[in-house]
Formats: sequence, structure tokens, C-alpha cells
Amino acid sequence: ASTLGASAAAKGRYFGAAVAANHLGEAQYASTLDTEFNAVTPENEMKWDAVEGTRNSFNYSSADQIVSHAQGKGMKVRGHTLVWYSQLPGWVGGLAAADLRTAMNNHITQVMSHYKGKIYAWDVVNEAFQDGSSGARRSSPFQDKLGNGYIEEAFRTARAADSGAKLCYNDYNTDGQNAKSNAVYNMVKDFKQRGVPIDCVGFQSHFNSNSPVPSDYQANLQRFADLGVDVQITELDIEGSGSAQATNYGNVVKACLAVSRCTGITVWGIPDKYSWRSSGTPLLFDNNYNKKPAYDAVLAAL
Ligand code: XIL
Repeated sequence: ASTLGASAAAKGRYFGAAVAANHLGEAQYASTLDTEFNAVTPENEMKWDAVEGTRNSFNYSSADQIVSHAQGKGMKVRGHTLVWYSQLPGWVGGLAAADLRTAMNNHITQVMSHYKGKIYAWDVVNEAFQDGSSGARRSSPFQDKLGNGYIEEAFRTARAADSGAKLCYNDYNTDGQNAKSNAVYNMVKDFKQRGVPIDCVGFQSHFNSNSPVPSDYQANLQRFADLGVDVQITELDIEGSGSAQATNYGNVVKACLAVSRCTGITVWGIPDKYSWRSSGTPLLFDNNYNKKPAYDAVLAAL
């Protein structure tokens, strides 16, 4: 096939992009999205600060724009994200434990109910583990006040809210085998053994010279898949340019395709100019929406 989405679909996968609602009015942005991709993730519009900046006052306008665009084009939507320490309004951190638990469960239930039936997979919990060798949980209002059990509680609440959505844990620096990914692995294994509802693990895959594509990327995806969950590459971007960047992109696609439970790949933006990285050229399209060598390598690998 001649587009990323169609080629991925021929392999039983999706190929998605992070989308910002405020770019959808740009003709080239929308046409590139619609031509090349068959899945979207709202880049910021479903985060807690965007949808519930004030307690119990929900604003879905920007996220709805993306979801209706995607639905109109038959694209899958990844919901991102329900419980995360970042882009979290200040009022959440000010709550005492019992109230925080109520607010967390209400947030999950309200947002998932609003989008019920429209979301392929939700990142229920994002980035709950620390970097480095400890394998410990990251400090957050949820971790600090509710303890380790908040993740399990979030997944149970999510399943009750929309039983049709796949429920994912999503993180970065977990792409290869290391202390952080081992800690996530042990959590997922424990959840599967105890029947805590988890369906997928997202590997953000933000790569650069300090954090290159790991040599054991495929093996790491496979060990998670072997626990009985789907795996997805959720926020792919790779610093660099030219043939080196292209080779890295191709290797990521090959790793996913080699793992039968790797159900799709999402790149974290469309043209380089809209990347969340303040400088650099980590995406598949240049600032004029020309296909880069990295694009050709991805298409060739699919
Ligand atoms: C980023 C967005 O791309 C930026 O626009 C925003 O300012 C900060 O968040 N991990 C995640 C994503 O899970 O939500 C982050 O997205 C990038 C890192």
C-alpha cells in the first residue's frame, strides 16, 4: 500500500499520529493526517488540566474536535491520559487522601463515560515509575497520598466505566530491558495474576542520542506480550536526520511487526515544526509536509 495507515492495516496494525486540535484547520496538516494515518491520539486535549481544570466542571470541546474528526475518517482514537502527575491542575494536589481518591475515580468515570464506545485504548495511568536503577514509583499526589494501590484502583474504575476500551499503562524509558521496565513488567505480571484489568502496555519511544533505540527493543516488547497484554508504540519520535534517522525508524517498525501482539504505532506529531521538542527534526514530515527519508523507511518496513 502507498500510505502508512493502509500499509499498517494490511498487517493488521494501525499507524497513528498525535494530533493538536488547533492545527486541524490548517489544510496541509489535515490532509496529511487524513491521507497517511488511521489512528490519532490527542496530544494534550484529554489531559486532566484540559478537561477538568476546575473540579467537576468538564470541558471536552477541544478533545471532541479531534474525536469527531477521527470518527468521520474511520480512525482509531487512543485516549491520553487519565491519571498522570503532570498537566494536573493544582486543585488535585491540594486534596487529602479520601477526597483525592474520590476525585480520581470521578475523573476516570466522567471522562471515559463521555467517550464511551469511541476509544480504542486508554492510557489509564501514565509515567508512574521513576527513572534510574531503583525501580521505584514516582512521587505524585496519587502515589504519595494513596500509595501503590492507586494504579490498580484506577484500572478497576476504568473497566467499570467503559468495558469496550482497552486499558493501557504507558511510560517512557521502558523501551528496553532496564530497572524501570522491569518494575513495570512486575506490576503487569502481578495484575494479570490477580485479575486486575489491564489489556495493554504503551511504550512511548522518545528516542535521541542519550536514549537511542535499544538493541533489545523487540525482546522487551515480546516479554510484555508474553504476559498476555497487547503492546503499542505510543509516542514515537527519533532525533536526527537523513539515513541514520531513517534506519532507526525502520528498526522500530520492524520490531513492532515482529511481535504479533504489537497492535500499532503512533508518532508524536506530524511535521517537525509541531514537535513537542523545542528544537530538532524528530518526525516523518518536514516543515512543508514533505516526506522525509524516515517516512520512506517506515513505509518500506511496513
Ligand atoms: C507533551 C506534549 O507533546 C506537549 O505539547 C506538552 O506541552 C507536554 O506534553 N509523555 C507524554 C505526553 O505522555 O503526554 C507528552 O506530551 C510527552 C511525554
